[in-house]
Amino acid sequence: MRKLTNILVTGGAGFIGVNFIRFILGEGITKPDYNGRIINLDALTYAGNAASLHKITKKFGSTRYFFEHGDTSNRSFVEEIFKKYEIDTVVNFAAESHVDRSILAPDAFIKTNVLGTFTLLDVARNVWKNQPDVLFHHISTDEVYGSLGETGYFTENTVYDPHSPYSASKAASDHLAMAYHHTYGLPVIISNCSNNYGPYQFPEKLIPLMILNMLEYRPLPVYGDGKNIRDWLYVEDHNNAVWTTMQNGKAGEKYNIGGDNEWENIKLLNVLIDIVAKKVNEDAEKIRSTITYIKDRPGHDRRYAIDCSKIKNDLGWKQTVSFIEGLERTVDWYLANPEWINGIRSGEYHNWIEKNYSRR
Ligand code: NAD
Ligand code: DAU
Repeated sequence: MRKLTNILVTGGAGFIGVNFIRFILGEGITKPDYNGRIINLDALTYAGNAASLHKITKKFGSTRYFFEHGDTSNRSFVEEIFKKYEIDTVVNFAAESHVDRSILAPDAFIKTNVLGTFTLLDVARNVWKNQPDVLFHHISTDEVYGSLGETGYFTENTVYDPHSPYSASKAASDHLAMAYHHTYGLPVIISNCSNNYGPYQFPEKLIPLMILNMLEYRPLPVYGDGKNIRDWLYVEDHNNAVWTTMQNGKAGEKYNIGGDNEWENIKLLNVLIDIVAKKVNEDAEKIRSTITYIKDRPGHDRRYAIDCSKIKNDLGWKQTVSFIEGLERTVDWYLANPEWINGIRSGEYHNWIEKNYSRR
């Protein structure tokens, strides 16, 4: 098992990063055995929210948790962080992550996902040199593999075939990360995960967008025929897999992570409507009547499905949260956290929703 001491978490103020930091510091459902420090480097874009970590800062600030506001593509800044905290581990969550935004404005995706990852890799190579016991864990997505037909699964050997500017930028970063392993011997691991859901997710993504729209009787916008398929995984199960891989995964390897949990979007939405209706004591049919089929996403991948037998067989990880349980928890969290929702519902969120969903 690797000894990890000073972990640089990039993008730690975003959805998965916040959940990772909470999990690793023992504030999640399962409690990992970690006594070291977490350094969160985040640019606080529209998707990053420092408020999500207020409690963590109060409890662990200046002892085990440190926040550094900055950009992963800023080389001198990244170098300074590596030296200041004697970083021995990087887990690179920082990214522009929303496919629809990448279609409208790809520039930021290239800067953060490609240039930001490159900068981190290159600083790690230069600062670490041949230092032992270091690790660069790069977080990636199943979207790099492209789209599946009705059958089959993505394995770690599936050839990359990205279709959106988002997935193309993630594919580029994966290739760079592996190239740094093969060329310079940098200890790199990549994990490619399916769709995450859970608390703290920015409500531009399917599940939180639908929950909040339901609570306000806004239309529920379904792209195309609603039959695209995604594989869903509760965010803490993802983070547990990342942690397992960081501890015991083999450098130079890729690990697929998934939920074994495929859903057509429209079927998922109907289950979610039933859960929300029950919790807020509302008529499910009334909510269902707000489903609105809208123009499809350009280049919309039809089906994602992950074969995650490698991480299960080699590292002993498995999913623990069932889909219904995870959805219930997620809905409960959004109902219990109006302050968080109001906090992010300032300009950016409001403008995005108004422009992209309300008037279609
Ligand atoms: P997110 O959009 O919620 O958060 C991204 C975070 O990165 C934000 O806090 C943002 O401020 C920060 N960031 C953006 N640009 C930055 C920069 N240049 N420098 C420093 N920080 C920057 O994303 P997420 O959903 O939490 O995804 C995290 C990672 O997981 C991404 O790499 C994404 O590709 C990958 N992933 C996400 C999912 C999913 O379903 N959300 C699934 C598989 C993989
Ligand atoms: O598969 C992993 C990927 O999952 C991650 O790499 C991405 O960062 C993450 O955003 C997610 O990408 P998707 O495009 O699959 O997620 P999104 O929530 O945007 O959409 C899920 C599905 O729902 C997709 O088929 C599009 C559809 N959809 C989405 C929205 C926002 C709708 O029908 N209506 C919507 O309003």
